[in-house]
Amino acid sequence: MGNKEKTMTRIIVDTDAGKTRISRFVYGHFAEHLGHCIYGGFWVGPDSPIPNTRGIRNDLVAAMKAIRAPVLRWPGGCFADEYHWQDGVGPRERRPAMLNYHWGQVVENNHFGTHEFLDLCEQIGCEPYICGNVGSGTVREMQQWIEYLTYDGDSPMARWRKQNGREKPWRIKYWGVGNENGGCGGSMRPEYYKDEFQRYGTFCRNLSGNTLYRIACGAYNDYVEWTDVLMKNYCGILMQGLSYHYYASHSLMRRLSTRQATGFNEWDWYETMRVARLMDNYLRQHIAAMDRHDPERKVGFIVDEWGTWWEVEPATNPAFLRQQNTLRDALVAGLTLHIFHDYAERIHMANIAQTINVLQAMALTDGPRMALTPTYYVFEMFKEHQDALRLPTHVECDECGMEDARIPMISASASRADDGWALLTLCNLSLDREETVSVTITGGSVAEVSARVLTHENMDAHNTFDAPNAVKPAPLAGVEATRNGLRLRVPPKSVVAIRFRVKA
Ligand code: AHR
Repeated sequence: MGNKEKTMTRIIVDTDAGKTRISRFVYGHFAEHLGHCIYGGFWVGPDSPIPNTRGIRNDLVAAMKAIRAPVLRWPGGCFADEYHWQDGVGPRERRPAMLNYHWGQVVENNHFGTHEFLDLCEQIGCEPYICGNVGSGTVREMQQWIEYLTYDGDSPMARWRKQNGREKPWRIKYWGVGNENGGCGGSMRPEYYKDEFQRYGTFCRNLSGNTLYRIACGAYNDYVEWTDVLMKNYCGILMQGLSYHYYASHSLMRRLSTRQATGFNEWDWYETMRVARLMDNYLRQHIAAMDRHDPERKVGFIVDEWGTWWEVEPATNPAFLRQQNTLRDALVAGLTLHIFHDYAERIHMANIAQTINVLQAMALTDGPRMALTPTYYVFEMFKEHQDALRLPTHVECDECGMEDARIPMISASASRADDGWALLTLCNLSLDREETVSVTITGGSVAEVSARVLTHENMDAHNTFDAPNAVKPAPLAGVEATRNGLRLRVPPKSVVAIRFRVKA
């Protein structure tokens, strides 16, 4: 493990040199018909005793509003390429059921469909991001879905929408043309998918003044060839975004003592951070490939699935991907969001997987009970980064870790919002070292400052239904404004958010 000798981390935040905004969509979410993300998660049904609005749980909506969730991706994931949208509209009792082949072969009753999803987005106040079916759907099916959603005149699909209770069309911007089509979405070669994308994309039309932002299915991990093929001679009219998936998954980690979300040891902690940091490496490679073909950076990079992936909770369905969420997951979230900020010029959106009860969730539910996770609180502490100007931030710090799992101890990112408040967020990845951090702020002096910290004495601390507030942000005392910036002590294994104003 790291030695305990005292060191000092130096950070320089240049408040004058910000050029790029951190897109708020980087703080996006993802909800798939998988396990209890939709059913028993967002959707409880209108007759449920759990407080709901038209079947959608009120406590979850309030929680998502509180973190200013900007976008929600749906219906998958692998499910998207097996989903037939027509089965999910009209009177619920008449909707046909289907088998959810990919996720446990459970029966999907289609009670949560297009109208319910868009109601959910309206309740949260976020943009919808719909992923269409390329793997097992037709061009016609995708074209008609867009007509159903967005056409304002008199047409068969618009009439059907009206019959189903929605007079006015919705405004839909983000449209995915398939998901993981190299794998669960059809096992395609990149060249083949590219042709499919062009074909489907041609029929994803802009109707009634609605303009689609078409997102081509992208690569995962270090599969740069896929990105390269998709971007080569890309057609700017059809492709506005290209997606990418990377999970800090136990399957990429070496000799863990446990593959589960809790009960791990120190080495597991550092190995997790090492694997989470690979995101930086991979993004650099994929973005370099994009830059070769699109030097003006017209195509947005859309990291529409990311997060930790552990073995499921004991005694739960292995296909439901339900995992606990600890302080370790919170640090992965902070670190990864900082990495996204570093590529703000190219990354337009990112969607953590998945919002409720699946993978690195914001919330876990059990009937009427709900616990917000440590990861949720990172999104809450970082929310002022959304759409703020990224401020160049230079960090000089020591390494931490053990044996062959060593990483820089401190990760940092800063931004300034339009209201003049700056936000500096820090992650201390060391398990045992409280770090003194000296922050030089160029361009003015610090006028007002307040800070919060998310930490716990146990590295696998988490919130449960009986103890939902075990890991929660608390005020951080002792942050001093100095002549040229700030000085503070950052506890081990913590995420810190410091808000301040700069006086010229
Ligand atoms: O998020 C779980 C699954 O991970 C998604 O369905 C798929 O796209 C990815 O492999």
